[in-house]
Amino acid sequence: MQLYMWKPEERIRYQPIDCQWPTQEQAANSPVFQTIAIGPIRLAQKTWIPAMVPWRSNVAGEVTEDVIQWYERYAQGQPGAIVIEATGIRDVPSGPLLRISHDRYIDGLSELVKRVKAASNNQTKVLIQIIDFLAIKRRPNRDAFLTRFLKITPQHIAKLNAPDLSEEELRQRLIALPDDELKDVLNQREYSQLSHGYREYVTDLDLPHIAELPAVLPDLFASAASRAAKAGFDGIELHYAHAYTMASFLSAKNNRTDGYGGSREARIKLPIEVFNSVRKAVGPEVAVGCRFLTNECIDSGSDLEDACYYAVEFAKAGMDFLSLSRGGKFDDAKQPKVGAAAYPYTGPSGYECMPGHISDEFGPFGRNIEPTNAVRAAVVAAGYTTPVVCAGGIHNFEQAEQLLIENQADIVGMARQAMADPDWFRKVKSGNGNQVKLCEYTNYCEGLDQKHKQVTCQLWDREKLDEPNIRMSHDGKRRLVAPTWNPETKS
Ligand SMILES: Cc1cc2nc3c(=O)[nH]c(=O)nc-3n(C[C@H](O)[C@H](O)[C@H](O)COP(=O)(O)O)c2cc1C
Ligand code: SF4
Repeated sequence: MQLYMWKPEERIRYQPIDCQWPTQEQAANSPVFQTIAIGPIRLAQKTWIPAMVPWRSNVAGEVTEDVIQWYERYAQGQPGAIVIEATGIRDVPSGPLLRISHDRYIDGLSELVKRVKAASNNQTKVLIQIIDFLAIKRRPNRDAFLTRFLKITPQHIAKLNAPDLSEEELRQRLIALPDDELKDVLNQREYSQLSHGYREYVTDLDLPHIAELPAVLPDLFASAASRAAKAGFDGIELHYAHAYTMASFLSAKNNRTDGYGGSREARIKLPIEVFNSVRKAVGPEVAVGCRFLTNECIDSGSDLEDACYYAVEFAKAGMDFLSLSRGGKFDDAKQPKVGAAAYPYTGPSGYECMPGHISDEFGPFGRNIEPTNAVRAAVVAAGYTTPVVCAGGIHNFEQAEQLLIENQADIVGMARQAMADPDWFRKVKSGNGNQVKLCEYTNYCEGLDQKHKQVTCQLWDREKLDEPNIRMSHDGKRRLVAPTWNPETKS
């Protein structure tokens, strides 16, 4: 499968690092397996599976049997918390993205929570990540863009020095220009629409639905959150990370002039308003926190200093947890092919979000640890104890334990490692850590995600295909969940 992900030019290959796995007794005494309070709820251990979209829903955005079985499989490993994938808060068609945008979704989501908790033997808390995102379109065909979509402006006429040409003739002139000259005639926004496809920005104040985001988003998030509470979720994670609406408000590139952009104080205004209205909707019994970035990892983007400021403000506002990611932006995404849409994990910032095994001298493991440590230190220095979750390349027990011993984070997040081996937690806790299948960070799973294909892991998707009653992917070649682990037979 062809994979579009940027790689550091050093191209150093890394293998996952094996470690000394603890005995059952050592595990019982390790900070990894101690409980921790997240606001009103308590995790049975300090482990966390961050949100990952596996493309198991349907075009209606419903909880399907495939969605349920995917999360039941994680739950069998009994991690402290599972965060259900990014789930849309608007009641609009969103491909096969899970939705929580109307009360009709509550029953399906309740069933999901019930079955996931049961599969974990009630050991795992279940949270849901809720998301808003702006429109993005496919990269257009050049001729079609210049003939139909581009709005001819006085700037084009002036740049072409052609006041007497008809619109039709002007368009033909534009089509005939080589790309480097066309770039001079179009403005930056128009050229980026042509080269990468149209996309909306939170700074498009001329578009009424963008201008009114601060007026509508608090209610949209609050309604989604109250549905999540009704469905029985233990917690809600507001998606303030990566390439989506709320992260774009926090971004240093947000220069809105309506009081919601420019300074840090203005950029965080809407994220805090959204949180306040979510808290009001769900009350103190449901954990509410957010996922945001230690660094956007793009030119002129927000940096670690911004993240420390945001973290303290979120803690002050009363968030119950802070989950830190990094990068994952459209700004440096790879140019999509004509007819395809840009994807935010294909450039250098995408690499920082999901580091792969081909890397630079630092390597793919723990790139977000130091920045998370700095964010946590800022929160602590400000007098707050809000738990901080760290993720990014963490796969072995020693890495996980070290993070906690050194107070770099309060909870260990493992996304791809949990996909590679959903039983990591149960195996390590029971003294069977040497049976863990380590994630190889090849990003085969992420390649499937980019194509909106059902996400599976190459370590298990073709294993034991003769097992009875297994569900297969649409292409009929891959099993959809990892084979069951049997501690007796060690397989
Ligand atoms: C297939 C896939 C889907 C993902 N979907 C989401 C998502 O819905 N929300 C989110 O915040 N992060 C998402 N991520 C990012 C992960 O949560 C995590 O931050 C990233 O993979 C780095 O952690 P890891 O090295 O433990 O995998 C996704 C990652 C993968 C591989
Ligand atoms: S496919 Fe599996 S082994 Fe490869 S990066 Fe994804 S989870 Fe890890």
